Amino acid sequence: MSQSIQIPNHIAIIMDGNGRWAKKQGQDRTFGHQNGVEAVREAIKGCREKGVKFLTLYAFSSENWNRPKDEVDFLMGLLVEAIKNETPELLKNGIKLESIGDISQLPNESYKSLLEAKEATAHNTELTLILALNYGGQNEIIQAANALIEDSKNGNLPYFPIDNKLFESKLYTAAFPNPDMLIRTSMELRISNFLLFQLAYSEFFFLDIFWPEFTRQHLFDCIEKFQNRERRYGKTSEQL
Ligand code: IPE
Ligand code: IPE
Ligand code: MG
Repeated sequence: MSQSIQIPNHIAIIMDGNGRWAKKQGQDRTFGHQNGVEAVREAIKGCREKGVKFLTLYAFSSENWNRPKDEVDFLMGLLVEAIKNETPELLKNGIKLESIGDISQLPNESYKSLLEAKEATAHNTELTLILALNYGGQNEIIQAANALIEDSKNGNLPYFPIDNKLFESKLYTAAFPNPDMLIRTSMELRISNFLLFQLAYSEFFFLDIFWPEFTRQHLFDCIEKFQNRERRYGKTSEQL
């Protein structure tokens, strides 16, 4: 088996289990979301320590609008608060904030603070932190198909038939490499409409902890396991 000591370039995380973590201690679900912010800080610190260049965090799915209004409102407020509190730290540490998903549908205040933080950090190059907000993988693929049809109708399609490269250029993730690793906490064994196209050859890690319990050590353990996996991309072991 080929041993690699490669540091993953891009880690994606489904931050799951806030509500159950809170309930376990007799608290409201929102208590779990509040405490999830510290786990986000841990994930960012862990990536910085290891030299990971892209970190994508699934913060709010296109299906999460179906939750009780109070919880949705709380999450949108928490986003504003976290961006306000964390932007100085992002600037200090050379972190560029990006997003994927249809952010135009976010409440105005959340949308505005996100845009401001993206603008303020746009020149940073150490780590790109990508928040998936109002993100759904199926919608992303459908809007890419629609954008290509639109280009075709307007005579702007550079070539036909389209290939992987052209299709990817219409995804929210056009500017980013595909994730090398996907981590999901809370032991749910599903991807919940996250990065359906981009996870084609990512290595998956399912952790038996709730998101507020996540520390950088969990990230390091996953990276170590990643380094011992053999990524074959359809080939045989002998061909690598
Ligand atoms: C993840 O935790 C946070 C979001 C989806 C916004 P959950 O809120 O899904 O917590 P559980 O999975 O219900 O415990
Ligand atoms: C996925 O978690 C979305 C986020 C972490 C933002 P969910 O809690 O919404 O996923 P399901 O509903 O359990 O599949
Ligand atoms: Mg959940």
